[in-house]
Amino acid sequence: MKTITSIKKSKGLTPLTVITAYDALFASLFDAKVDIILVGDSLNMSFGAKADTLSATMDIMIYHTQAVCAGAKETFIVMDMPFGSYTNETLALQNASRVYAQTGAHAVKIEGGISRAPIIRALTQNSIAVMGHIGLMPQFVRSEGGYKIRGRTEEEIQTLIKDAQAVEAAGAFSLVIEGVVEEAAKRISEAISIPTIGIGAGKYTDGQVLVWSDMLGFFKPFQPKFAKRYLDGATLVDEALDTYIKEVQTRSFPSLEYTYTK
Ligand code: KIV
Repeated sequence: MKTITSIKKSKGLTPLTVITAYDALFASLFDAKVDIILVGDSLNMSFGAKADTLSATMDIMIYHTQAVCAGAKETFIVMDMPFGSYTNETLALQNASRVYAQTGAHAVKIEGGISRAPIIRALTQNSIAVMGHIGLMPQFVRSEGGYKIRGRTEEEIQTLIKDAQAVEAAGAFSLVIEGVVEEAAKRISEAISIPTIGIGAGKYTDGQVLVWSDMLGFFKPFQPKFAKRYLDGATLVDEALDTYIKEVQTRSFPSLEYTYTK
């Protein structure tokens, strides 16, 4: 199982594998395979069918993190701090302490760069491990009027590098880079000494993360460019359901094999 130390040491070596999970069942399938499981607030969309992540709460995140921790005992687990739960240092510390007290998560994730550095520092100085998150930050979707790919200009790249350096200096042990042009993500990764974990950020980061329901093809309505489907989950479920419905309607299920006869 990965630790903060081994994750930090993985910089520049075999890329870290990270996947989201929101429940014990899928967490148990991913357990001891991937390096890190992220209980992302993306659950608000892919689990809760909401339009964005903003209405996820501490209670919701804690509930799902408890489930994931119950299902995955051999994997390093990170919980996303939801929108509004870390608007100042005191609140962030209070809420992040709750994560350690009420779940088995090993770390929390915070969106934001330089402006969030004091909050990240307040957590790390109080023994809470923090994964940063810069680039496209879903919790900014309403204030920025949409999801925007970053790192398209030299100015943006410089801003991102400064953000990454501030997050590292504040004590974060790793950094998610989301929705960033590949070359920019490469330069950010080269500019810091903690591992970077990319999503829609090309192949030069120190790891990759995907949302499980995108990666396994269960979420059909929309497929972001970066979200490779490794399984056509929705079609498999659809086919299995069609077979089940047909067998029930024709009374071929349950056959003798699935029936108590005495
Ligand atoms: O909420 C989430 O799943 C995330 C990943 C996309 C990195 O933050």
